[in-house]
Amino acid sequence: MDKFVIRGGKKLRGAVEVSGAKNASLALMPATLLAPGQYAFQRTPMLRDVTTMSRLLETMGLKITRTDHTLRIDSSEVTSFEAPYEHVKKMRASIYVLGPLLGRFGQADVSLPGGCAWGPRPVNLHLEGLRKLGAHIELEGGIIRARAKRLRGARIVFDVSSVGATGNVMMAAVLAQGTTVIDNAAMEPEIAALGEFLVRMGAKIEGVGTNHLEIEGVDALHPADCVTIPDRIEAGTLLVAAALSGDREGSVRVEKCNPGHLSALTTKLEDVGAQLTIGKDFIEIVPPETIRPVNVTTSIYSGFPTDMQAQWIALMSLSKGTSVITETIYSDRFMHVPELVRLGADITVNDNIATVVGVEKLTGAKVMSTDLRASASLILAGLVAEGTTEVLRVYHLDRGYEQIEKKLSQLGADIERASGEEF
Ligand code: EPZ
Repeated sequence: MDKFVIRGGKKLRGAVEVSGAKNASLALMPATLLAPGQYAFQRTPMLRDVTTMSRLLETMGLKITRTDHTLRIDSSEVTSFEAPYEHVKKMRASIYVLGPLLGRFGQADVSLPGGCAWGPRPVNLHLEGLRKLGAHIELEGGIIRARAKRLRGARIVFDVSSVGATGNVMMAAVLAQGTTVIDNAAMEPEIAALGEFLVRMGAKIEGVGTNHLEIEGVDALHPADCVTIPDRIEAGTLLVAAALSGDREGSVRVEKCNPGHLSALTTKLEDVGAQLTIGKDFIEIVPPETIRPVNVTTSIYSGFPTDMQAQWIALMSLSKGTSVITETIYSDRFMHVPELVRLGADITVNDNIATVVGVEKLTGAKVMSTDLRASASLILAGLVAEGTTEVLRVYHLDRGYEQIEKKLSQLGADIERASGEEF
């Protein structure tokens, strides 16, 4: 298993380009099950999760090739309606095949996703929404067995805003008979991108990007092409890296991003004392002289993203005061805290609230990745820790960041990937 070796203290400056959004690609790829034919997805990030999704779709008969960042899918043949456990256990987003399989073929056998590093990840909202559309769903031996003659439009109100459930129900509803109304739909840019793509495939959806969707079912859709939106969480992670270890004599310019997707984070970075120049598709940041403590509460879009919470705690670890970070989306997404404490951070967690007392410095050590965004926070801490930090099990990171070590090295970080040792 690979690890990253980081020698802290280097100042970051220069420009770096953001890759396409992982959480958009993972929703767009299964949408090709809805209509047979050829699709081209530009700016697809080269990530383990995209490979996992490709392997799963290939077991269903789809042909997938990629040239650089363009992923081509031929869904002319769909030979299986199953998502077996060996795929689903690697990646929860495999459940995104459920909606399109039900919508187009009326059947799907998808392994129930397990939990993850930070607790249970239920799928009740997915199943309740699909049942409302007329699907007959049974859970048998860890498998979701779903059947439907033809789905019928319905009114659906999600108790909790759910990115995945919104994506799944939307992909099922576009081929249902009649109208579906979804209230309290997720508004994350990745779901808006899925809605726009489905419309380009011939779906009839009103309200894309809002929490109220009206979908007029059609009899058939057709293939379309897509340019994947930029990854707002990668962009945010790079901005926090710059706020932590940027060169005050220079700046870091995060390019090919969508600043409109990042306003909650950029506002908070300005509160911290960073100076930001925000362009059409770039954000330039000059780090703060001292890091001011700034409280954050995660929320659904367009609030502060939960996927940036771990990175924010790393930043606050070196602030000149005490800050409170409240996680409202997941029950205990704080696996990164004990590892940051090993680097010298002063953080206490009670229920879903982390209190961070800023320290003068962090000191390098061996730390363990537990999940994707926790790994990112450990790397950010390693950039500024005195001495050497080794972040183990970076396969977590490779799920969602394309060559992050190359991007950070390009900005001046001293970070390298070491492989082979059993860690
Ligand atoms: C998506 O996960 C993202 N993953 C996650 O990013 C992200 O953290 C999450 O949305 C929230 O923004 C992908 O897009 C592949 P949810 P998803 O359904 O769809 C509860 C990353 O780091 N819930 O919006 O699984 C759930 O437990 C990953 O890139 C139910 O109770 O998230 C959570 O508390 C991590 N029942 C809340 O809703 C359900 O049926 C939000 O979950 C579904 C969800």
